Amino acid sequence: MKHWSRLQWTVHILCWLPLVILVAAYLTDNLTINPIQAATQRSGDVAIIILLASLAMTPLHILFNLPQLLKLRRPLGLYAFFYATLHMLTYTGWDYQFDFNLIVASIADKPYLIAGLLALSLLTPLALTSHRWWQMALGKAWKRIHMLVYGIAVLAVIHLAMAVKGDFLRLQGDIWKPLAASLVLSLLLIVRIPPLRRVLTARHRRGRLVKINRQPARKAAAHTPSEVTAPEGE
Ligand code: HEM
Repeated sequence: MKHWSRLQWTVHILCWLPLVILVAAYLTDNLTINPIQAATQRSGDVAIIILLASLAMTPLHILFNLPQLLKLRRPLGLYAFFYATLHMLTYTGWDYQFDFNLIVASIADKPYLIAGLLALSLLTPLALTSHRWWQMALGKAWKRIHMLVYGIAVLAVIHLAMAVKGDFLRLQGDIWKPLAASLVLSLLLIVRIPPLRRVLTARHRRGRLVKINRQPARKAAAHTPSEVTAPEGE
């Protein structure tokens, strides 16, 4: 069996927890008087939270030098895909019984579905090619394809902003969720701006060099130059 660190175990358990809570609430008749709407909203909320969490791993590593976080990007991305699919199936299957004509007609009343569908359609190839085998097979193209995740997050936030009952642009109504999501996404995007990223990464390199220089000579020699100068993140 694959050896997971305590952090990896915690993340996997935390990601399964919302599904367990959702199923338990449904089975015990505690999923509000409108269980379909509650399940759609909860699975959507979980999907966007995990999607943003997966995007936060690289910036958190850049800021705090935590390479162990990089291993969490793939599982988090897959959990986000899982919950987004569940969210879409709750709407199309549970609510609309997979009646294609009715689903298409519902888009006229709910234009936010277009952004949601686009986000999920773009997320699907990323989930399907997330395995290391595809990373090797696609080479540089893999990285370019996977950069799409930022566009997907923007689409998901637009979908959320349009779906809630409120006017996001006028800052009126129940808009705290899209507001929080767009704030988090903006911060994650700002940290990735190349000059800023270079400054933050250089700060760590300097910090690590100072640490190594302070170590006893034998220990410091164990650090190869490549370990110190290796590029951070992806
Ligand atoms: C990556 C893809 C997607 C993400 C991250 C996402 C996320 C969300 C979020 C966070 C909400 C707001 C929930 C709330 O009010 O608390 C929402 C609402 C909604 N989404 Fe999605 N969504 C995605 C794709 C889709 C797709 C493909 C569909 C259907 C075809 C869909 C259908 C809906 C519906 C119907 C609502 C309104 C629920 C309600 O308030 O009654 N979403 N979505």
